[in-house]
Amino acid sequence: GITRHYKFNVVMRNMSRLCSTKPIVTVNGRFPGPTIYAREDDRVLIKVVNHVKYNVTIHWHGIRQLRTGWADGPAYITQCPIQPGQSYIYNFTITGQRGTLFWHAHVLWLRSTVHGAIVVLPKRGVPYPFPKPNHEAVVVLAEWWKSDTEAVINEALKSGLAPNVSDAHTINGHPGPVSNCPTQGGYSLSVEPGKTYMLRVINAALNEELFFKIAGHKMTVVEVDATYVKPFKTDTIVIAPGQTTNVIVTADQSFGKYMVAASPFMDAPIAVDNITATATLHYSGALGTSPTTLTSTPPQNATSVANNFLDALKSLNSKKYPAKVPQTVDHSLFFTAGLGINPCPTCKQANGSRVVASVNNVTFVMPTVALLQAHFFGINGVFTTDFPANPPFVFNYTGTPPTNLATTNGTKVYRLPYNATVQLVLQDTGIIAPENHPIHLHGFNFFLVGKGLGNFNSKTDPKNFNLIDPVERNTIGVPSGGWVAIRWLADNPGVWFMHCHLEVHTTWGLKMAFLVDNGKGPKESLLPPPKDLPKC
Ligand code: C2O
Repeated sequence: GITRHYKFNVVMRNMSRLCSTKPIVTVNGRFPGPTIYAREDDRVLIKVVNHVKYNVTIHWHGIRQLRTGWADGPAYITQCPIQPGQSYIYNFTITGQRGTLFWHAHVLWLRSTVHGAIVVLPKRGVPYPFPKPNHEAVVVLAEWWKSDTEAVINEALKSGLAPNVSDAHTINGHPGPVSNCPTQGGYSLSVEPGKTYMLRVINAALNEELFFKIAGHKMTVVEVDATYVKPFKTDTIVIAPGQTTNVIVTADQSFGKYMVAASPFMDAPIAVDNITATATLHYSGALGTSPTTLTSTPPQNATSVANNFLDALKSLNSKKYPAKVPQTVDHSLFFTAGLGINPCPTCKQANGSRVVASVNNVTFVMPTVALLQAHFFGINGVFTTDFPANPPFVFNYTGTPPTNLATTNGTKVYRLPYNATVQLVLQDTGIIAPENHPIHLHGFNFFLVGKGLGNFNSKTDPKNFNLIDPVERNTIGVPSGGWVAIRWLADNPGVWFMHCHLEVHTTWGLKMAFLVDNGKGPKESLLPPPKDLPKC
């Protein structure tokens, strides 16, 4: 591979959306930010310079960072933030991966506007395992907030209540015309009849799972989270924050314009954030005045539409791209994940309580020294290694709130020996309202070996696990009132964050970290930190 250099200037920029203007934090003045292009085996150096008043870090979501955890990016997990006026060079090599990923800020709620695509092409001369599309385009889905997102979450933390939702969703930075701002344009992709287009769809939204559809066109799904899948056709894809999906679209319709739409999927019946973002597939030669063929998206609670799509995802598992599913398990873990209520005497609006979130009843408290530094340099008192392998109370999901909602605060990690095989069952507790949790694991891909509703049954459910061609991902939606079972090989030494990719749930504490020890040889050990690693 070669070395590629990028420079990210983090700067404020005035941006107009929904018929009003506000300053936002951007990379190089763009929303979404610039796309990083590389090939498998390339080394990438990105110099991030912080020109804003906030602390900044950037995470390369889904890049495995083999032995280079220092470049992973989550604030206070693998690094201290880049302070105003400071810079840091992220330095990593993309090993054994190709596909669509994305980068985003990993501190505060800055990722609402600080995000962009990562396109990792196969090694030179290596083809895709499907017919090469004629053209490719990046499609970043996100949100637009009229107010400042830092103010939104700070308000919520003070009051103990849930934060406001965004004012619109966006496709490549634009909501498209909506009723309260009908004059604004949207993203438009021009296509030529008969040609094929690979869309690299990314959900960079803070808090919304999304449906994505194109009027009059089917999509062939070929890849998720930068892993190849068995191709299949669909009308609708569902994509959670943190996930990516590559689809191939053939421009097989007649002349004209076709609506592209993204709208929320919320299993829980609580959301009101229901504005559909729109864009246009524009056949070349179609006049600006030609009518657009419309489409409607599924209702917010269309769980069956989502499941039809999600259940169709299987690893390609070809000779060239085998699914290396761990067949045995060294560490079998069962984590409950969900929301709870803790007392908060100062939270008057919420009657003296506040929403918290936890994993195995532990609400993760962010340290003030990065965990990876504490681990590497042997700094005591930053974290403990007693994260429980099972919940402290026998869990029984009945669909109504369980009686024991108690959570404890702690900065606890779960320790794994190098090269251990891990099975983790994530059970949604549905404590406040049934809801999906897109759980993201840093540093690894994992295989989705099982999934179900209600309680996970450790005797019967594993009999139905798919250990042959389960989908491989880095972010998985734990179904509302249900569970998923994932497996991975802990072959990456370091400290790896795992959290809900709905930013509000992460903020509330739905997060924890794994500590993977060094292996025996130097090739199995974490590299030393770079000289410019920011200090706390
Ligand atoms: Cu994309 Cu820890 O996040």
